[in-house]
Amino acid sequence: MKERWGKLGFVLASIGSAVGLGNIWRFPYIVGENGGGSFVLAYLITILIFGIPVMLLEIGAGKHFRGSILTVFKNIKEKIKWLAILPLVTGFVILGYYLVVTGWSLAYFVFYLFRNFIQFSAFSSSKLPLFFFTVSLIATAVVVKAGIKKGIEKFCRYTVPFLFILIIILLAKALTLPNAIEGIKFYMKPDFVRFISPKTWIFACGQALFSLSAGYGILMTYGSYISKKEDIYRSTGLIAAADTLIALLGALLIFSIVFSFGADPDQGPALAFITLPKIFEVMSYGWLFGIAFFMLLFFAAITSSVSMFELIVRNLNDELKISRTRSTIFSTLGLFAIGSLVVFSIFSLESLDFIFGTLFISLSAAVTCIIVGWFWKPEFLMREVEKQEKLDYRHLTVKGIFNFIIDFIKYSLMIYLVKFVIPVILIVLFFAELFGI
Ligand code: PFF
Repeated sequence: MKERWGKLGFVLASIGSAVGLGNIWRFPYIVGENGGGSFVLAYLITILIFGIPVMLLEIGAGKHFRGSILTVFKNIKEKIKWLAILPLVTGFVILGYYLVVTGWSLAYFVFYLFRNFIQFSAFSSSKLPLFFFTVSLIATAVVVKAGIKKGIEKFCRYTVPFLFILIIILLAKALTLPNAIEGIKFYMKPDFVRFISPKTWIFACGQALFSLSAGYGILMTYGSYISKKEDIYRSTGLIAAADTLIALLGALLIFSIVFSFGADPDQGPALAFITLPKIFEVMSYGWLFGIAFFMLLFFAAITSSVSMFELIVRNLNDELKISRTRSTIFSTLGLFAIGSLVVFSIFSLESLDFIFGTLFISLSAAVTCIIVGWFWKPEFLMREVEKQEKLDYRHLTVKGIFNFIIDFIKYSLMIYLVKFVIPVILIVLFFAELFGI
């Protein structure tokens, strides 16, 4: 029998996967580029309508088939199992560039620790990004190689609570900066024209799925290790709430600093690595703030990298029967190749992030919904999520009728969302963005 998570292991590891660069680095700059408050509102809606159903679907299917995405697709319909290549390749490429940014965070943490600061332009043209990327890659591989309980769960038990403490300390300082209120205003200000633009919604969907680690098999993999007793609704709610909270706090943190020093929030990926360090230089105790900020970024990133790495290793292990050790070594080599291409700017990080981290993520989620929704019965999925074999409404009591109504709404909502609404909208948004509509 495969390993199982210990108490709270699944929730902690999944929060570790969800909370990452996506919350503290990517979410603020996407909010900055897409108009502030209106994007935040669209984002919260997509978390509820897209994110949570896809999470339930992945966890339920992973638990039912006790396997990752290839195993799930294969068991649902052998002929279409190759479609799992899309989410797997998406995850693999994302991990390749994600580890490069993880390496930047580690490097900046070390620079602040030794108070020996290097400008981003000098840093990125040196050998240092390759070095720190390699260290992050090896650290991730070591945790995954150690397995579910002794590796991932143990690691997340310490790092995840620490992330929450760090962000609260940082926010306490940031919110007391002069003019921080301007950042909060930008963040809350709705802009109706932006709100109805398809671009806002494609980025919101991509970001919601990216941030929750939903739609490309990670939660299926983690879900395959949960015990029979796990309350999937509660765990999903906790994971989504923790992830959304950290994203909202992360953006609040960044905008209060950026506006307090009169910088521009609309600077893309450079926001955290170019703008913030400039501010830390002139801020009182900026170096201490820098240490804590980049430590936060690094730990958040590494717990997410671990989950993507586990996705790859588990599939190699289950479907190609390659041992965990060998799968870890092969994946490390492949990731080293992709990451190096990004480090040497042969692949542009921003384009990869857009193609894989926004477009392909949405497509993968759509494919997963279609396969589970159309080729497997969503009713089975709901049974898995509900932890019960068959719903029993034979007793016509008030409670029985009430339960029937609630279940009916839950079932139909989830089934319609998974079978029709989510895939259709994701595919429409995908083509809208692809053809620049
Ligand atoms: N959810 C992580 C974050 O928000 O940073 C990122 C992530 C993890 C993206 C795993 C993709 C993934 F496969």
